[in-house]
Amino acid sequence: MALADFLADLDELVAQASAAFEAATDTEDLEAARIEFLGAKSGRLKNVQKGLGKVDKPDKPAAGKRFNEIKKQIESALEDAGKRLSAGGAKGVAKTTGFDPTVPGTRPQLGHIHPITQTIEELTDIMGRLGFTVTEGPEVEDLWHNFEALNIPLAHPARDPLDNFYLATGKMTAGVPQGEGGWLLRSQTSTVQIRAMEKTKPPVRIISLGRVYRPDTADATHYPMFHQIEGLLVDRHVTMADLKSILHLFASSFFGDDVDVRFRPSFFPFTEPSVEVDMSWHDLWIEFGGAGMVDPNVLRSVGYDPEEVSGLAFGLGIERVCARRHGITDIREFYKNDVRFLHQF
Ligand code: PHE
Repeated sequence: MALADFLADLDELVAQASAAFEAATDTEDLEAARIEFLGAKSGRLKNVQKGLGKVDKPDKPAAGKRFNEIKKQIESALEDAGKRLSAGGAKGVAKTTGFDPTVPGTRPQLGHIHPITQTIEELTDIMGRLGFTVTEGPEVEDLWHNFEALNIPLAHPARDPLDNFYLATGKMTAGVPQGEGGWLLRSQTSTVQIRAMEKTKPPVRIISLGRVYRPDTADATHYPMFHQIEGLLVDRHVTMADLKSILHLFASSFFGDDVDVRFRPSFFPFTEPSVEVDMSWHDLWIEFGGAGMVDPNVLRSVGYDPEEVSGLAFGLGIERVCARRHGITDIREFYKNDVRFLHQF
């Protein structure tokens, strides 16, 4: 055997062995490659070694020297590959974690604005286009703004402790705070009518949207906390016709088409006359709240002259409006915080 052929076999062998060791992605792969190239019985290096005996005699020392060098190279390539795998090289990690960069990712869940807040924002927008600006009032309210100024005197049944969340802050008799210093969680947003009129001279054109509290047992249509939108317009020559047309615009802007508004006679201490407001959308009539012309006593309580100005006021339930739009039949769904419900809006 010519020396050149023998040396060529050695060169080819070291190249193949190094490539095989580098390609190994775990220790099992590497061990298989070790046996293939360095196996004691029938490894490929062993095979090439057999050729050494057939090399022409004068060339033998050179061939033997080269063989030993190549053997060392292959062994150190094996050692390097072993170190790479135990250090957790990129390929080793890839195989052990099963990470596949070509699999499409999972979309992160994005949050939503709560349907009630969405409705509040939309109603604010609709009423804003009709010239109503938003005024806010506190949820912890005094007796003057929740009752007295709204023409609800002490003996009125609306003050019953079974219908109100009184705060035990002052002198209480039979669960009712007496005199000055009584507080409660407001039972209606009509409180903000008073606060708005106390702050400004007429004309007044405001809405107020927020939480109100009543000690009702929660069921499909009741909840101890809910939201109202209050509207108040005080100016010269304001009439019931204005009330009706504003509420009609409210309904048609929110529900879109096929809406109607009807009034049923009712009673509220702070409006005269007073009505219940029903709206129909696609032939289903629902009561949304109350309304009326501001009672002269209320105008007087804030220092307005009922001979000079008149006012219209309405208070509608935001949950009802929102539920009607979306076909929700149980108000409790709004407050369970079940994302399967909430993510639909
Ligand atoms: N405040 C009344 C309620 O909560 C609704 C209302 C508001 C009625 C304004 C008349 C005028 O039931």
